[in-house]
Amino acid sequence: MTAQTTRDVLMVGLGTIATTHLHVLDQRADVRVVAGVDPQPSEQPFPVFASVEAALAEAPEPDLVVVATPTDTHPALVQEVLRSTGALVLSEKPLARDLATIRALEQAEPDLADRVKVAHHFAFSPEIEWARSVAAAHPQWGPPSHILSVFNDAYGGFSAERRASYVSTWVDSGPNQLSLLGAFVGGWRLLDHDDRGDRSVTTLAHDGGTTVLTSNWLAADSSKQTTIDYAGGARIRMDHTSMTGVVLEGGRVVEHHGYTGTAGRKEAHYLGLYDVLLRDPSDSRLGVPLATDIAALLEAGELAAAATTIRWTDA
Ligand SMILES: NC(=O)c1ccc[n+]([C@@H]2O[C@H](COP(=O)([O-])OP(=O)(O)OC[C@H]3O[C@@H](n4cnc5c(N)ncnc54)[C@H](O)[C@@H]3O)[C@@H](O)[C@H]2O)c1
Repeated sequence: MTAQTTRDVLMVGLGTIATTHLHVLDQRADVRVVAGVDPQPSEQPFPVFASVEAALAEAPEPDLVVVATPTDTHPALVQEVLRSTGALVLSEKPLARDLATIRALEQAEPDLADRVKVAHHFAFSPEIEWARSVAAAHPQWGPPSHILSVFNDAYGGFSAERRASYVSTWVDSGPNQLSLLGAFVGGWRLLDHDDRGDRSVTTLAHDGGTTVLTSNWLAADSSKQTTIDYAGGARIRMDHTSMTGVVLEGGRVVEHHGYTGTAGRKEAHYLGLYDVLLRDPSDSRLGVPLATDIAALLEAGELAAAATTIRWTDA
């Protein structure tokens, strides 16, 4: 990106999450959205084109291109943008859902890691920033011995097309869970994965312990929590829906973390994300290496999803 004060943004995909991107970008004086791309018509305060090629003919030199399209379209659109612009690219998550796609992109585009950043937005949620600082202040706790991350979204009533755009709960929520947990643990290895498409349960080994992830679209509301247990008895419990948390030691609450901001959940994530992206795009939370770890685990999960041992019940 150039050192100019206002950066020109091209927004590719103008659906649900693009609304949050645009709302956050609108609050910043250092960016301006110059054009959009979407085959579906939409009312926007900037010109909208049906293809990237058509947009670049009118707005040829964006500084930042945001790709906020259905999951499986990300790799090809990112590659098209890399080849036809000199812009920094922010791809929605996941960048890809298998390792071969990332490796092929890396081979075809040697500057992939420098120019492509991935919107691992959950990593920027306020309660994660808080919990990160709690963990960093207690190095004596060592690595977490066990993590449970439970994600529910009320997507059961969505159209088949909309659900297909997210692929499955694992492909949709897994990257969010892994990108937030990247602040606390690394060295993941898939142990097992049960998956019905609209629900999944995954067990991973991490350096020093195990992680269990559950994801689910059969829910009355969005509800997301993560509990991190340390061998000595400390526990960090985060509620990602309210963006709050507590720390327990020996079963007693020793810290209680509230949220006093006015931004809603998704807006808060993207406010933090764009702050970092526009100040320090080399931040590891946005990086292709994290996207690569996520793609490898998504693929391992999809390959491992065989006979189920979970009793799936519902009301
Ligand atoms: N909805 C969320 O809460 C949310 C949150 C974070 C990340 N994401 C991610 O963002 C991506 C998009 O999700 P969404 O909920 O906005 O989906 P969506 O279906 O609401 O919007 C996608 C938009 O992309 C457009 N589109 C499709 N192909 C295109 C192309 N080739 N060029 C330009 N536009 C194209 C569609 O017409 C649609 O308007 C997904 O990968 C999802 O995982 C979604």
